[in-house]
Amino acid sequence: MGNREVPAAEMNDLPVALAELPVAEWAAAIDVRHSARTYTGDPVDATSIDGLVEFCAQLPGKEVARVVVAPVAPAAVFTGMVGGYGKVLDAPSALIMIGDEAAFAVEESVGYLGEAAILEATARDLGTCWVAGFFDRRIAAELVSLAPGERIFAISPIGHAKPRPRSSERMLKRIVGAHKRKPIEEVAPGFDAGIWPDWAAEGVRLAVIAPSAVNRQPWRFELEPGTADSVTVSIVEKGAEGRVPRRLDCGIAMLHFQVGSRVLGARGTWEILPSPQVARFRATTTA
Ligand SMILES: Cc1cc2nc3c(=O)[nH]c(=O)nc-3n(C[C@H](O)[C@H](O)[C@H](O)COP(=O)(O)O)c2cc1C
Repeated sequence: MGNREVPAAEMNDLPVALAELPVAEWAAAIDVRHSARTYTGDPVDATSIDGLVEFCAQLPGKEVARVVVAPVAPAAVFTGMVGGYGKVLDAPSALIMIGDEAAFAVEESVGYLGEAAILEATARDLGTCWVAGFFDRRIAAELVSLAPGERIFAISPIGHAKPRPRSSERMLKRIVGAHKRKPIEEVAPGFDAGIWPDWAAEGVRLAVIAPSAVNRQPWRFELEPGTADSVTVSIVEKGAEGRVPRRLDCGIAMLHFQVGSRVLGARGTWEILPSPQVARFRATTTA
């Protein structure tokens, strides 16, 4: 990603930011969530589908990013890699993460809102898995009605995950080290629980366990020098960017950060920053 133009100050905020969050439910969902690619094939009950449809309908910033529930997901929409590795099997339904390619902060917005839908589904005991690389775009596009300029950035299965993934999924998880996370000191250089405010420390703890494409965790969190109320998120540019923008991963981690900081009483706003920075969280009230 090159440097991006940042519009006038009052327009810099994350366009899809959520002022209110179901904090306890999502903090619990963050703890138990992991990617599931092997499902039972049983349909998702109508109450959960309707609840998710309603949830997605009230999300803000639809002109930038939105999530659509596909109650019936054709099996062929999940392609997997060569040999079927990473293929999602027997998922009855899906979430479709859409963004307007030309919109300001579209990548971080898709990540942030998409993860909101993932956590909401997780809180309803449904399995999920961000899939940005290996899905059939033509089939996915038949499940939604796209406005001019909109693109599908990713999809996720939703359904009842089998308790034990099949062996090819277990292999994939081993290859990407799906359960491994960078230590907090690497994600937040200079992290000191004695110096960082509790809300910021808890925010980073939940950001550390966010999902990212091939588990690359391309984010860094810094307490802004000389302040006790601002934390910036930046991109770590290691390796090739690949097909999935790192700013999308960062949007996911930003939502996790915000949930963690709210657990410990902070509310705040997200201001989008030019690359390699991504955004600044400024706490407006703390407990
Ligand atoms: C933006 C994004 C794109 C992803 N794309 C794929 C994909 O195309 N195929 C796949 O099998 N997993 C995909 N994943 C899942 C990641 O591999 C997974 O989140 C990561 O390995 C961490 O594992 P966990 O989600 O179980 O914590 C994606 C994840 C993210 C956040």
